[in-house]
Amino acid sequence: MLMKSCTPSSVLLVCLGNICRSPTAEEVFRQQAAIAGLSIKVDSAGTGDWHIGHKPDERAQRHAKAHGYKINKLIARQVNNDDFRNFDLILAMDAQNLADLQAIKDSLTDTTAKLALFSEEDPTYGGDDVPDPYQGDGEDFENVIERIESSAQAWIESWKAC
Ligand code: 4NP
Repeated sequence: MLMKSCTPSSVLLVCLGNICRSPTAEEVFRQQAAIAGLSIKVDSAGTGDWHIGHKPDERAQRHAKAHGYKINKLIARQVNNDDFRNFDLILAMDAQNLADLQAIKDSLTDTTAKLALFSEEDPTYGGDDVPDPYQGDGEDFENVIERIESSAQAWIESWKAC
């Protein structure tokens, strides 16, 4: 497959728990990249360790499924130093996730991964957090999907354009 030179070969989506936002983003990104004909390795992780080994939150699974995204097989893991060597682009769901990732990156000498906020390229939600829905309700989970679809599409459009 012919790849535009600016398209990363691998993208890691990161939130706090890796059970709500980033597994949803992983599957949205994977589907959108496939539709766009881009061959990109996609994975997700959390900055925290509470949910290592867990499936996505039941609410996240349900809302994702209603939009055509099957995330029930994904298993949470914590971001690690090797991720900063193995992924071209690491995208943080919110500003706190980004600060936590930056601190890890700053502690490493041999990383080439680019870090950015997930919403960075989004004309609608650019610069915003994807708000943590964990303590929220169904509307918050719907809002997460809306923002994730929009911001993932914006990255993919940016790569198709270069
Ligand atoms: P996520 O949501 O970061 O979107 O996966 C959360 C899941 C769990 C927790 C916080 C946020 N927690 O505190 O356990």
